[in-house]
Amino acid sequence: MENGFDFTGKTVFIAGGTSGINLGIAEAFAGAGASLAVCSRSPEKVEAAVGKLKDLGSKAIGFSADVRDPAAIRDAMKGAHEALGKFDVLISGAAGNFPAPALGISPNGFKAVMDIDVLGSFHVLRYGHEHLKAPGGCIINISAPQAFVPMEMQLHVCAAKAGVDMMTRVLAMEWGPQGIRVNSVVPGPIDGTEGMARLAPTKEIQALVTGSVPLRRNGTPRDVANLSMFLASPMADYISGAIIPVDGGWSLSGAGTAMTALANSMKALPAG
Ligand code: NAP
Ligand code: COA
Repeated sequence: MENGFDFTGKTVFIAGGTSGINLGIAEAFAGAGASLAVCSRSPEKVEAAVGKLKDLGSKAIGFSADVRDPAAIRDAMKGAHEALGKFDVLISGAAGNFPAPALGISPNGFKAVMDIDVLGSFHVLRYGHEHLKAPGGCIINISAPQAFVPMEMQLHVCAAKAGVDMMTRVLAMEWGPQGIRVNSVVPGPIDGTEGMARLAPTKEIQALVTGSVPLRRNGTPRDVANLSMFLASPMADYISGAIIPVDGGWSLSGAGTAMTALANSMKALPAG
C-alpha cells in the first residue's frame, strides 16, 4: 500500500525509468506492490535503479535500451513480458532537453530531442501495445508544460512534447475500444531533477521559478507519482485522452509569463 494505492500483482513498464521523476514513479509503484520493468541507455543507471526497486520489495528487472532504437525497445519489452507477464501499466518518460535559442539549435540538436521524445515514445507505445493487457491496460505519457505553453529557448522541446500529447489523444481514440486508456501527466518544476538542473541552474532562477508557482513550492517526484498511481488505479477507469498537469498551478501563468521570465533568465546564462 502506497498512499492508499495497492498494485499487488500488477506489472508496470517504464521507459526512461532509471532516474529523476520516472524513477520516483517506479519507486512509488514498487512500494505499492507492483513488479517493475525499467529501461534507459546507461547500464549503470539501470542496475542502480533495479537495485533500489528490489530493495522496496519489487520483483524488478531492467534493460539497457535507447528508445530511439526500435529493435532494442522491442527486445526489452519482450524480456519484461517473459519475466513479469503482460503489462498493466506502460509509461513513456524518456526525454531530452537543453536550453537554447532557436538559432542556437543545429538540425542534429533538434533531431536528437524529436527522436527521443516523439519517435522514442512512438516506439514505446507502438511496440508496447502487444504486451499491454487489453482490456484494462493503462498508458501514461510524461509530458511537460512546454507542450501547451510556448516557451522561448525551448523550441525543440515545445514541438516534441506537443507531439507527445497529440499521440496521447489519438491513441486514446484508437485504442479506447480495446479497453486501453491513454493519458498524459504534465509535471511542473520538480525539485532535484535533471530537467530542473538544466533549465534552472542557479539559485536565482530557482527562486524565480518557485515564486511563479501559485502554490509557492516546487513539486517532488512523489507528487507526479501520486497522479500516475491515481491514473493507473480503478478510480480513473473513465479517464482517457486527458492531459493532466501536476504543477501547483504553474502552467496557469497567463500567456506563459512565468515561463517567459524563466526563459529570459536562461538567455542571460553563458551558452553551452
Ligand atoms: P532525467 O532524470 O534525465 O530522466 C530521463 C530518463 O530517461 C532517465 O532515466 C534517462 O536515463 C532516460 N533517457 C534519456 N534519454 C533516453 C533514451 N534515448 N532512451 C532511453 N532512455 C532515455 O530527467 P527528469 O527531469 O526526471 O525528466 C523525466 C521526465 O519528466 C521527462 O519526460 C521530462 O521531459 C519530464 N519533465 C520533467 C520536469 C522537471 O522538472 N524535471 C518538468 C516537466 C516534465 P539514461 O540517461 O540512462 O538514458
Ligand atoms: N545547446 C545546443 N545544442 C546542443 C546542446 C546545447 N546545450 N546540447 C546538445 N546539443 C546538440 C549537440 O551539439 C548535437 O548537435 P551537433 O551534432 O549539430 O553538434 C546534438 O544536440 C546531439 O547531441 P549529442 O550529445 O550527440 O546527443 P545525445 O543523443 O548523446 O544526447 C541530448 C541527447 C542532447 C538531449 C542529451 O542532453 C541527453 O542525453 N539528455 C537526456 C537527459 C535529459 O535531457 N534530461 C532532462 C529531461 S527534461
